[in-house]
Amino acid sequence: MSKVTVVGAGNVGATAANVMALREIADEVVMIDIKEGVSEGKAMDMMQTANLLDMNTRINGVTNNYEATKDSDVVVITSGIPRKPGMTREELIGVNAGIVKQVTESVLAHSPNAVIVCVSNPMDTMTYLIHKVSGLPKNRIIGMGGALDSSRFKYFLSKALNANPNEIEGFVIGGHGDTTMIPMKRFATLRGIPVTNFLSAEELDKVAADTMVGGATLTKLLGTSAWYAPGAATAEVVEAVIHDQDAIIPCSALLEGEYGESDLCIGVPCVLGKGGIKKIIELDLNEEEKELFKKSAEAVHKTNAALPC
Ligand code: NAI
Ligand code: 2OP
Repeated sequence: MSKVTVVGAGNVGATAANVMALREIADEVVMIDIKEGVSEGKAMDMMQTANLLDMNTRINGVTNNYEATKDSDVVVITSGIPRKPGMTREELIGVNAGIVKQVTESVLAHSPNAVIVCVSNPMDTMTYLIHKVSGLPKNRIIGMGGALDSSRFKYFLSKALNANPNEIEGFVIGGHGDTTMIPMKRFATLRGIPVTNFLSAEELDKVAADTMVGGATLTKLLGTSAWYAPGAATAEVVEAVIHDQDAIIPCSALLEGEYGESDLCIGVPCVLGKGGIKKIIELDLNEEEKELFKKSAEAVHKTNAALPC
């Protein structure tokens, strides 16, 4: 029996839970929130799709009852406030740090062996905070940002190439921030053919720029941050862990010398499977990419320094 808890049954948490249930990634998904009745209502609504959609996952919703999350294999933390138009992810730190700290302590009290997937923003800093407050082995804490940013990169590439997004490979490393993420243009391919065969340097730069502000563009359109792709990207990360897929997904991981950095969590390609992060893949970055990564790490360090706890 596999069990996943999603803390925060808001837009991203509920979407992630729904995708996990529809894809039958786990046998049981528990949603927990502080808002009375919201998790229960969303769980009931989702369960009423079971016979319509031939779904076999059991979804349970609770308010503040951590006992129901007991012995989860994976815990996803989405609790906290999202950004509003014009806000950066970094501006959320004060409120979200307190929530993420309390939630981490509560989930680990009931699921001491769980792998934690952090979604709450500023995600790289919240992932680092979870390391600090939990003292867990570093492989068991995964920051979800690169999975989403890479999917957005592939979407914008598909638009520029007029191609099916499923034909495209590509990934984003660095921080999960408008100015810190690094779409890896050099490695992007259409069915294995480098996209540089089809797109000019200017066109590729525009794809990268659109990717970097992908979240902000949606926040402006929606009045709050996006949830469909963030929820699906979260489910992808959880699936890799629960099904021991050895999937290579860029995630925020604690670096201890990799990429010349240490004492921070930032997006790098990771092999995900049973137990969480099995391996960090070190790419041979060129000078321009090294410089971008260094700047990105500096910005993430700066946000970490603003942690109130
Ligand atoms: P939302 O406002 O729809 O949902 C957040 C939920 O957390 C609410 O239902 C709220 O009641 C709950 N919550 C607050 N404090 C809690 C606590 N102590 N315990 C349990 N639940 C609590 O927000 P949304 O859109 O779902 O975003 C959630 C977070 O995820 C935000 O910080 C947002 O910036 C971040 N995010 C991160 C992404 C990433 O790629 N890492 C992508 C999209 C959003
Ligand atoms: C996103 O990228 C705001 O992190 C959130 O949609």
